[in-house]
Amino acid sequence: MKPRLVVMALLLGTTSLAGATESVVADYMLSCQGCHLDNGRGFPLRGVPTLTNYVGNFLKVPGGRQYLVQVPGAAQADLNNEQLAALLNWMLTTFSPDQLPSDFVRYNAEEVAQLRPHPLVDVASRRAELVRKIEQLQPRSRQ
Ligand code: HEC
Repeated sequence: MKPRLVVMALLLGTTSLAGATESVVADYMLSCQGCHLDNGRGFPLRGVPTLTNYVGNFLKVPGGRQYLVQVPGAAQADLNNEQLAALLNWMLTTFSPDQLPSDFVRYNAEEVAQLRPHPLVDVASRRAELVRKIEQLQPRSRQ
């Protein structure tokens, strides 16, 4: 077995013992990692943004919180609302803890259930708009 499969088998095998964290990691590996890669580093040249040290910024601008649930990779995942909420919370706190606003409120199943059925009409332009707002929050340091 390839090392990655062994890790996955171990994670899946231990869910009954350890519960939440392991099953969330397994959900990430099975549903998201194919595009977002390990540690959320993504594949920017192919249009998969890096989550690492970034994704938490979306929670600082209006509309960002909704976007993270409605983006197709999340909204269309084969996961129930509770699993998706847990996965998003895990992604945010694991990949991007330093960008999270201090008043970060974790997602729950009810919020995900409300947002999820409303797909984004134009994902790329919605994302670009939010990234512009994020950049306005953090002016690049002058050189
Ligand atoms: C088929 C590839 C693919 C898969 C699988 C995928 N994503 Fe993504 N994800 C993307 C792309 C591409 C974007 C950029 C927005 C867009 O074009 O959809 C993105 C954006 C995101 C974002 C917003 C971050 C940003 O910077 O725009 C989140 C949050 C996210 N994905 C979560 C997930 C979760 C959670 C999963 C697994 C359940 C997942 N994605 C699975 C390709 C994927």
